[in-house]
Amino acid sequence: MGRFSEYASMVMDKAQKFGRLRSLSIVTAGATALFMGVTAYHNQDNLFGTFVMPALRCLPAETSHNFAVWACKHRLYPASEYPDDLNLHTKFFGRLISNPVGIAAGFDKNGEAIEGLHDLGFGFIEIGTVTPAPQAGNPKPRVFRLSDDRAIINRYGFNSEGAQPVLQRLRHERQKEDFNGVIGVNLGRNRRTRNAVDDYVLGVQTFGPVADYLVVNVSSPNTRGLRDLQSKQRLQELLEAVNNARAGLTENPNVPVLLKLSPDLELQDMRDIVNVITKKKSRVDGLIVANTTVTRENLQDTSTAVQGGGLSGKPLRKRTTQMVAQMYALTNGRIPIIGVGGISSGYDAYEKIEAGASYVQIYTALVYEGPELVERVKEQLSILIAEKGFDNVQDAVGSNYRDYLPPTRAEQNSKPAQ
Ligand SMILES: Cc1cc2nc3c(=O)[nH]c(=O)nc-3n(C[C@H](O)[C@H](O)[C@H](O)COP(=O)(O)O)c2cc1C
Repeated sequence: MGRFSEYASMVMDKAQKFGRLRSLSIVTAGATALFMGVTAYHNQDNLFGTFVMPALRCLPAETSHNFAVWACKHRLYPASEYPDDLNLHTKFFGRLISNPVGIAAGFDKNGEAIEGLHDLGFGFIEIGTVTPAPQAGNPKPRVFRLSDDRAIINRYGFNSEGAQPVLQRLRHERQKEDFNGVIGVNLGRNRRTRNAVDDYVLGVQTFGPVADYLVVNVSSPNTRGLRDLQSKQRLQELLEAVNNARAGLTENPNVPVLLKLSPDLELQDMRDIVNVITKKKSRVDGLIVANTTVTRENLQDTSTAVQGGGLSGKPLRKRTTQMVAQMYALTNGRIPIIGVGGISSGYDAYEKIEAGASYVQIYTALVYEGPELVERVKEQLSILIAEKGFDNVQDAVGSNYRDYLPPTRAEQNSKPAQ
């Protein structure tokens, strides 16, 4: 099966290079394989890694993404029976969660697969990015795998069904007595909106009453000008408006607001941001570090690397861990951080935690490894926490952040010349 997986990936890559991926026969074959795999999985262990995931990777990236959401929506993946160890239980902005591993934004953009994702064993689920009005996003193709790099480039451009259908789904979830999962809503702006601030305010007013947390996403590289909202003055204006909108909510006026940052920020940008988010009027309750990067460094798949968009996955791991440590240091560990970027094991998750993250999220590795990854990450993380002598994940947060900080100029200058 390992060979099959390599062969399938090779065929996929070659086909992608020659632009033949959308042939109906491959789609049909992939879909059939998915159905067979999902059905068979109920009777056979580890079938996802060896069969279903390689089959899914034969499909164009966006098609397989849609299939995966669809399978979660219909709860075709078997529910995880892994009992989260007590040392993973933690508080998440006032709610108790059984583990600190969440699914990052961008997988379930429209809130269709919440319970299916919960089944996989995630401790919290972030849906979105949701824009106020529906929009189609960028023309296809807009998602690309870099299999050799265990990475993805996407330029979806906030394809969203818009706030209303997503709100209906969330309300429906909230009415269920047997589901009490933690759900965050990641908010974005419509491409054509003149005043971006209005869109985030609308997002807060719409989703504040039903969400466990909200995310102000100003870090996607695929909407022109969006990342400029991270600049000091514009961020201040935006967060003040967001906080005012939250204060005006009659239901859930203390819903936590988190800010999701780009990994491409310089140290001075980060200082400016900390300056803003520690002011009373523009404060945030947490940070998500980080979104995808526009940089392309040390990639194997140089032909796909030229695609425009945000890069995620393994190549992002080191930079995002460093940035977690930087934000942890700049905020004196006072603002909870969700660490995200290139996590594909419990070791990677632990790295983010000891750098200063209270929680972690995963996306790209799930595409390559399948849903079994969630249990694996939790199991390894739990063992590591115990091995390092901590009783609980909370005690490990920031325990080694200094090791991940980039060298200061003075440290660099004191190095002997090579
Ligand atoms: C296909 C794809 C779509 C994404 N869409 C969004 C999005 O809509 N909103 C957002 O805040 N982040 C989005 N992200 C970024 C992820 O939430 C995450 O920050 C990033 O991928 C780094 O984590 P990873 O390396 O584990 O994938 C997307 C990522 C991918 C791969």
